[in-house]
Amino acid sequence: MPELRHSPDGDYLPAAGKAWLLPLYDPLSLLFGVRRLHRALLDQAAPVPGQRVLEIGCGTGNLLGVLARRTRGLDLTGIDPDPDALRRARRKAARAGLTIDYRRGYAGDLPFDDASVDVVLSSLMLHHLDEAGRDRALAEARRVLRPGGGLHVVDIDGHGLSTSLAPRMFTDAGFSRAAQTGRGRRRRLGEFRFFTAVP
Ligand SMILES: C[S@@+](CC[C@H](N)C(=O)[O-])C[C@H]1O[C@@H](n2cnc3c(N)ncnc32)[C@H](O)[C@@H]1O
Repeated sequence: MPELRHSPDGDYLPAAGKAWLLPLYDPLSLLFGVRRLHRALLDQAAPVPGQRVLEIGCGTGNLLGVLARRTRGLDLTGIDPDPDALRRARRKAARAGLTIDYRRGYAGDLPFDDASVDVVLSSLMLHHLDEAGRDRALAEARRVLRPGGGLHVVDIDGHGLSTSLAPRMFTDAGFSRAAQTGRGRRRRLGEFRFFTAVP
């Protein structure tokens, strides 16, 4: 059973479901084929040099690490409430010589000005939130996105606290258009879906 981690700023569900399982998150992610989902999400988002990219729920930094290697000249920030995951993310970026700003924060209260980000990425994070938290996170992503920017999401379906994702959830949060852009199934991960939403 997943266990919420308690923090004065707000409880959250950690990357591998339980705090003590965090060291297993990267090996499990490899085993479950998450790298392929990351590559597909980055192909979809396709940020270009000079753009500001924010990942909400960056965990141990695997997605932004791939992005930093494939596209130089991006302004990259990852936020996550879990200080242990952030420590791992920072250590990996430092070892690889990558410049990524990892900050402690919550998807429902982003430390960014309105219309200040070009691309928001969310990978396997929304199912860690209950429905109210998910709606707040989507509204926050909408708030920080610049006109012409976009939110790109991959998540597993029918797991965790949120109900199944659908384009309507994004438009309810203030996005002008949203669409499911792909779906698939992996034996260990289950069903997953990709979405895009524009402000
Ligand atoms: C399954 S991990 C995904 C990590 C990373 N995005 C990836 O694709 O490998 C989910 C992450 O969401 C984070 N998380 C949980 N609640 C959150 C919240 N309210 N705001 C932002 N991140 C949250 C967890 O700490 C965890 O690191």
